[in-house]
Amino acid sequence: MQLNLPNPHAAACRYPLLPPRSSQRFAYAAQSPVLRGEQVRIDDGRELHLRPIAASDVAAMQRCFTRLSPEVIRRRFLHPMSVLPDSMAQRLCRIDPELESAYVLMDESVSPAEMRGVGRIYVDKATDSAEFSVLVEQDWTHHGLGAFLMQRLVDDCLRRNLGELWGYVLMENRPMLNLCRELGFRQRLIPDEPGTELISLQL
Ligand SMILES: CC(C)(COP(=O)(O)OP(=O)(O)OC[C@H]1O[C@@H](n2cnc3c(N)ncnc32)[C@H](O)[C@@H]1OP(=O)(O)O)[C@@H](O)C(=O)NCCC(=O)NCCS
Repeated sequence: MQLNLPNPHAAACRYPLLPPRSSQRFAYAAQSPVLRGEQVRIDDGRELHLRPIAASDVAAMQRCFTRLSPEVIRRRFLHPMSVLPDSMAQRLCRIDPELESAYVLMDESVSPAEMRGVGRIYVDKATDSAEFSVLVEQDWTHHGLGAFLMQRLVDDCLRRNLGELWGYVLMENRPMLNLCRELGFRQRLIPDEPGTELISLQL
């Protein structure tokens, strides 16, 4: 699928990069095709390929990690990390499809292809919910890709018939909190985790 939006906030195509603000938000998710891969073009003309993560993505994930700032790493993992251990990269790329989904935005304009974004969910069957995480590499932010990945995660949760999508976000992480607010998530403080908010969307 080709997305070509002159403005990342203009919802002008079948699958807009940013979601509608109305109560129809997420209404089309149930009709979304099963995700096999889609081409995404952002407002400046650059293109990425969205596809499910693969075990062979370990090297690309490790290269991506080395390009992230300490602040971005802390916002994604909620604590500082100087390296992404091999075992962790392998674990993040070899998912259990029964309990996890992970989608990567791959930049195929370079060789080898580079990972520019990742969105994932972990399903908690006991609570009929899933925890999300999302990351967009800094050179690619503010083009609607974070919202696009979140939308795909919501679609996935709806296909799995889950009742809630939730995640932890640092209070200082204004871009993510703003994005979640735009997407209709609620946020609340966690008493025993100062500085962190619990963000959730009822599906
Ligand atoms: C948070 C993060 C994923 C955002 O990625 P992004 O690609 O910049 O996100 P988007 O462009 O879709 O949305 C962000 C912006 O769009 C705005 N936006 C989102 N939906 C919108 C809508 N429907 N209408 C208008 N504005 C909207 C947001 O308020 C935000 O504004 P800004 O660009 O002026 O800051 C990225 O910064 C990142 O990876 N951060 C580090 C990791 C992290 O914090 N992860 C979250 C915790 S797991």
